[in-house]
Amino acid sequence: MSMVPFDDRDGVIWFNGEMVPWREAKLHVLSHALHYASSVFEGERAYGGTIYKMREHHERFHVSAGILGFQIPYGIEAIDAAAMEVLKANGIVDGYLRPVAWRGSEMMGVSAQETRINVAIAAWEWPSYFSPEARLKGIRLTTSPWRRPAPDTAPVHAKAAGLYMICTLAKHAAEAKGFNDALMLDYRGRVAEATGANIFLLQDGKLHTPTPDCFLDGLTRQTVIALARARGIEVVERTIMPDELAETQEVFITGTAAEVTPVGEIDGQTFAVGEITQELMTAYSDLVRNPAQASASAA
Ligand SMILES: Cc1ncc(COP(=O)(O)O)c(C=O)c1O
Repeated sequence: MSMVPFDDRDGVIWFNGEMVPWREAKLHVLSHALHYASSVFEGERAYGGTIYKMREHHERFHVSAGILGFQIPYGIEAIDAAAMEVLKANGIVDGYLRPVAWRGSEMMGVSAQETRINVAIAAWEWPSYFSPEARLKGIRLTTSPWRRPAPDTAPVHAKAAGLYMICTLAKHAAEAKGFNDALMLDYRGRVAEATGANIFLLQDGKLHTPTPDCFLDGLTRQTVIALARARGIEVVERTIMPDELAETQEVFITGTAAEVTPVGEIDGQTFAVGEITQELMTAYSDLVRNPAQASASAA
């Protein structure tokens, strides 16, 4: 696979309040975040020049930092404005945005009380998280040997860089076996989520999704629950055990990057890319491209 590395591209990145040339948006090797994972981030998508749920993403950005014990030195409105500026400066209409905040180099040890909080926002064009073929047939998942940690073990409700150590291990293990992604169970052995997206199961006409008590309650998850309910589809948030996959007709995952992606297989068990999944894929795709019209027609 040939890829243009992310540190060698044209464009500009918003870095601590200023636009800097893409290749110059650097940090020092002795940055606290690199050694101790003191970093939080966001993943957002722009559709037609508008960032979907921008305010909610930037509120979560601030909340994530708060959970890690630091404050982002720019208010939510300033982050909103910076994100829009980044899109414009790079000429991006449909793309992905990555705000990130991290502890700097002032202290190098477990304690980091006096570190500067740095903030950057980058954006790039990124059409689809999984390949179009995989999206059409449904992606293939395998259960990960790595589990989501307990809420008293890690800051599970923050979108914190450190939590993705487990996700990368899980995703690499799945890819090594020829799967697209991993199904992650939680510390109790319950179905939790994929490595970067939440999960929904269709059983006898109702949607079931795990209660987000030890992983991110994704913004896309919340959107899809509302879309389903508005269409008269019942949604149940509850404990889901992996053996229930045997009684499941359809499966899909939701996330800003993944959007609504059907799952065609989990560990050899197959699922149809059925009507409800297709209806919600279309509904989500329509909503993000025209949020104003969708809310007007719902009113
Ligand atoms: C681990 C994990 N779970 C769930 C999600 C879905 O969250 P959202 O829909 O807010 O993007 C993401 C993506 O941000 C994620 O990385």
